[in-house]
Amino acid sequence: MSLRILQFGATGQLAREMLDRAQPGMEIRALSRAEADLTDPEAVARAVAEAGDIDLVLNAAAYTAVDRAESEPDLAYAVNAWAPRAMARACQARGVPLLHISTDMVFSGAKDGPYVETDAPAPLHVYGASKLAGEQAVLEACDRALVMRVSWLFSAHGQNFLQMMLRLAETQPRLKVVDDQRARPTASGDVAAFILSQGERLARAPSGAPDWGLLHLVNAGVASRYDMARAIFALTRPNNPPLMEPVPTSAFPTPARRALNAVLDTGRMQEVFSLQLRPWEEALEDVLAQMANPKETA
Ligand SMILES: NC(=O)c1ccc[n+]([C@@H]2O[C@H](COP(=O)([O-])OP(=O)(O)OC[C@H]3O[C@@H](n4cnc5c(N)ncnc54)[C@H](OP(=O)(O)O)[C@@H]3O)[C@@H](O)[C@H]2O)c1
Repeated sequence: MSLRILQFGATGQLAREMLDRAQPGMEIRALSRAEADLTDPEAVARAVAEAGDIDLVLNAAAYTAVDRAESEPDLAYAVNAWAPRAMARACQARGVPLLHISTDMVFSGAKDGPYVETDAPAPLHVYGASKLAGEQAVLEACDRALVMRVSWLFSAHGQNFLQMMLRLAETQPRLKVVDDQRARPTASGDVAAFILSQGERLARAPSGAPDWGLLHLVNAGVASRYDMARAIFALTRPNNPPLMEPVPTSAFPTPARRALNAVLDTGRMQEVFSLQLRPWEEALEDVLAQMANPKETA
């Protein structure tokens, strides 16, 4: 398989999974913050324009500090909206497709049931609004753009709920865990595997193909944070799990209000790409096995 990807982001959860999973014949040129700072749209556009022969551009970088964004809106918008817009314009000018990552946090959570791609977004906070502005800018500027919304990413490295639970269990015998937020937890590695497996197809897909536009890309199954924590400890501490107390979201007031229903519908993924990602519990088992034996790739 031959595929040349220019990737913004080298250190994040998804960025690292992309690099770890690239197969022989695939070339991923990953740009770190030092090589392309997303607060500088000209640097971003230049990186795309001067990238040489590439088949795809992937934006795996983002401002992901959901609560801090409330006090840094300009920075959140610069990285999550205006940099992707610069990428999209530069991709359009070169005729190269852009793959961009977004989030369930564009929705308010008020819907009764899973969100489909055509549901109206209504973000509850600055982070969600900045990601929504990024989606819109990308889809407007580039006619071969795929915007993948993902949820509750976890992986063997980086900052995520899995890592936080493991860390807390080391020091606290009793954990309060939120049980009224629900989503489809998703392995960063499964998102990377999707991108790499569909890369050649996407590189060839013409403008107007069903491949482009919004796509909900999440593992199968639904969980609350509490369900996920229980699954984590069943696998990692079967004999001495911490005591867990389910609590409502209101027990942990945060600057950015969280949506209670963040469940994304995956019907479009099945329809367009004829596939469904595996259940999140299976992916979690693989990630934990990878952490136990870091040389093994899940
Ligand atoms: N994590 C989740 O639970 C979650 C859920 C839904 C959607 N998403 C979306 O999924 C995508 C991937 O998230 P992730 O969890 O892999 O992110 P992450 O681990 O937080 O990594 C973010 C990456 O963006 C880079 N970055 C931040 N600001 C930058 C700047 N000004 N210039 C250049 N690079 C910059 C970081 O580089 P440094 O290392 O230099 O800081 C890092 O490589 C993002 O679009 C995110 O919005 C994530």
